[in-house]
Amino acid sequence: MRPGLGAGPTIVTAAPSVERAVSAISEPEPPLLEVRALRRDFHRQGSVVSAIDGVDLAVYAGDSLGIIGESGSGKSTLARCITRLDRPTAGTVHFQGRDVTGSSDRALLWFRRQVQPVFQDALTALNPRWTVRRLLFEPLRIYHEADQDARVAVVLDDVGVRREWLNRRPHDLSGGERQRVAIARALVLRPSVLVLDEPTASVDMSMRRSLLALLVRLQAEHGLTYLYISHDIRTVKQTCSRTVVMYRGRLVEEGSTRDVLTTPAHVYTRVLVSAVPRPAALGSARRSDRLRPRTDGPRPSSTVGESACVFLARCPCSLPECGTHVPKVDLGRGHVARCVLAGRLPPDGDGTGHSAPWGGPDNVGPAIELVEEGR
Ligand SMILES: Nc1ncnc2c1ncn2[C@@H]1O[C@H](COP(=O)(O)OP(=O)(O)OP(=O)(O)O)[C@@H](O)[C@H]1O
Ligand code: SF4
Ligand SMILES: [Mg+2]
Repeated sequence: MRPGLGAGPTIVTAAPSVERAVSAISEPEPPLLEVRALRRDFHRQGSVVSAIDGVDLAVYAGDSLGIIGESGSGKSTLARCITRLDRPTAGTVHFQGRDVTGSSDRALLWFRRQVQPVFQDALTALNPRWTVRRLLFEPLRIYHEADQDARVAVVLDDVGVRREWLNRRPHDLSGGERQRVAIARALVLRPSVLVLDEPTASVDMSMRRSLLALLVRLQAEHGLTYLYISHDIRTVKQTCSRTVVMYRGRLVEEGSTRDVLTTPAHVYTRVLVSAVPRPAALGSARRSDRLRPRTDGPRPSSTVGESACVFLARCPCSLPECGTHVPKVDLGRGHVARCVLAGRLPPDGDGTGHSAPWGGPDNVGPAIELVEEGR
């Protein structure tokens, strides 16, 4: 991310093309990966579900972008559309300035070599009938790479895949070992981007730490760019320079990981961040890190209009204007939230993002004067 250095909050009302033109002045370097107005609809029981709905994203070389949001918010669908494992219904994906949205599989070969996915469940992502050796050599064979033995040897050492695993199949490995193989397979073609969808979710805590340390080291050593999807906000804090928050297929907040997680500006992000168990509160009890929607709250309404807040039906402190027009508020340094109360939320209790349950609009501090662009 190359954010501008704006001061107070500003409502951004300019058209996206104008926004991009303005931001381009302070961002001479073009994004490596750019997603514009991306949408993916699924037809389900006679109705249409927009799993992602108008997502704009710019990812710069060397970024590690965290993507957070509760279950069903569209994170994996976004990852699948970006890696072109799925075809978006509308919008575009550009990589190195080239539009890859409608490209055929054949035309996508160069892109797939550069942008590699790593999924949560290596057991289903890796062909169960293949040995680790075949899994690692196959991509090199497809791309007719030279020095294949040497390339595999380097990646084995880099990722910590033991040579004695080469003749094993995925189900003969532990979860952590399998995930190392999946990472090695993703890296063997020397890509520039890894799209990591919950890469540590299926392993235990100590293996999680070790895989995270591995990912951080690999990024530093190889100059990789990461899109890192996780329910575990603590690992996002450790791994990502920038974070976006998704809710019902839309990006509701984005900014530096520090800004988004320690001073969340969207009410939904506040709720999401405050749901993270604190280490002191964890005790010895086993807790699930999955952040699922509350089942006792009001259900999201399917009649919410385009310009209404997507979180309206569940927001504890909505205002009348939330149902008609929700601004995109620029809080400076690339911190943007689509919330009427962005920049007006009271400071977080202890500055850690773990706020006490928040009472609603009565608790909102003095409103900062919001300046509408063009006025
Ligand atoms: N192939 C599909 N057919 C129909 N609906 C789908 C399909 N894939 C995803 N969806 C729906 O799209 C929405 C987003 O799903 P997605 O898997 O992207 O969410 P997610 O944020 O990755 O969730 P989780 O954190 O549980 O992995 C959900 O409502 C899901 O049911
Ligand atoms: S305050 Fe309004 S805009 Fe903000 S999250 Fe609640 S309903 Fe949405
Ligand atoms: Mg998912």
